[in-house]
Amino acid sequence: EKVVLAYSGGLDTSIIIPWLKDNYGDLDIIACCVNVGQEDDMGQVREKAISSGASKVYVENVVNEFVEDYVYKGLKANASYECKYLLGTAYARPLIAKKLVEVAHKEGAKYIAHGCTGKGNDQVRLETAIASIDPTIEIIAPWRIWNITSREEAIDYAMSKNINLNGISKEKIYSRDQNILHISHEGGMLENPANEADFDEILVMSNTVEKAPDIGEYIEIEFKEGIPVKLNGKKLNGEKMLAALNKIGGIHGIGVIDLLENRLVGMKSRGIYETPGGTILIEAHKYLESFVLEKETAHFKDIIGQKYAELVYNAMWFSGLKDAFDAFVDSTQKNVTGTVKLKLYKGNVKFAGMVSQNALYNEEISSFSTGDLYDQKDASGFINLYSLPYKIQALNKLNNTGE
Ligand code: ARG
Ligand code: SIN
Repeated sequence: EKVVLAYSGGLDTSIIIPWLKDNYGDLDIIACCVNVGQEDDMGQVREKAISSGASKVYVENVVNEFVEDYVYKGLKANASYECKYLLGTAYARPLIAKKLVEVAHKEGAKYIAHGCTGKGNDQVRLETAIASIDPTIEIIAPWRIWNITSREEAIDYAMSKNINLNGISKEKIYSRDQNILHISHEGGMLENPANEADFDEILVMSNTVEKAPDIGEYIEIEFKEGIPVKLNGKKLNGEKMLAALNKIGGIHGIGVIDLLENRLVGMKSRGIYETPGGTILIEAHKYLESFVLEKETAHFKDIIGQKYAELVYNAMWFSGLKDAFDAFVDSTQKNVTGTVKLKLYKGNVKFAGMVSQNALYNEEISSFSTGDLYDQKDASGFINLYSLPYKIQALNKLNNTGE
């Protein structure tokens, strides 16, 4: 029998290999590292899996698929969980699950093992996605089984099994999760909400606002039907677009948030997120939508965007509701074509102009100087009817108090 292990090369997934050998002796361990843009040396990850006892390693590069088929869908919806979190980890889990199942099928494996703890969202996301694709696969989740309860114990276990700890120490550090959209930081000193985050120590993709340049930088993003296609006039695929924007956004300290969020497993938890490129894209996309979407569609779409974010956060990527939301969102994006200019300055994404052939904003109508399309005299009749319900209420009140 075989087990496919979701493998990152980190401490938690490395100790799972000897643990599986001890506890499921007859299982062949196939390590599978899904590359969603975490900045790890995949050569080293491969080596470490083998030296820890895996019999085979897969490294699946899905960075561009991640951006174009996952991140961009959420971008079109302006999805943001609890108004702040751009869902970097939540988008990656269904894709990782999909790849794990593919490898399991290729290898004829009956089991998938992962290193998510029993307290988090990720276990729910991975397992729900796996179940949606192949409900016959059985899950092994060591963190919900073994007696290891802390990082220190995990390190002791690793040492007892001769796992290479290169650089890992017992000192309390952050639990991090990175891909091309973001990096999250949880745990450590962040666990006490009374503590101010030490951004100098935490940040990986971005400058602190203090260290960001004193001079702003202009960029121009061109969208086609809601998808960013060009940066400063240059055509870029999803992976290159986010890589370029992460670099520029990181320099200017864009998209760093400190969030106390509601997890799907009931508890609250605090995280710092760095999403430089994603933050720029969503801001640009919102500006363009304000230009081209008709009012009622825009307002209703905001509601869908919030629901979309909850659904992605809550592990329902592979669901009928998600497909229905995508269909709605896509139909709103037909006119979301145009170019937005932004100025990045000390953590801020500032609007610096936009053009679109589909603009619903009409300068002649909206201008303070008079034009032909809008006749101010029409406003009197409009206001008479618009205010009628309130006028009647007020009249009733007058009459009743007069009695
Ligand atoms: N709280 C965030 C989320 O639920 C980040 C999770 C980070 N995951 C991790 N394995 N470190 O999306
Ligand atoms: C974990 O607990 O495995 C990471 C955090 C999360 O899933 O929310």
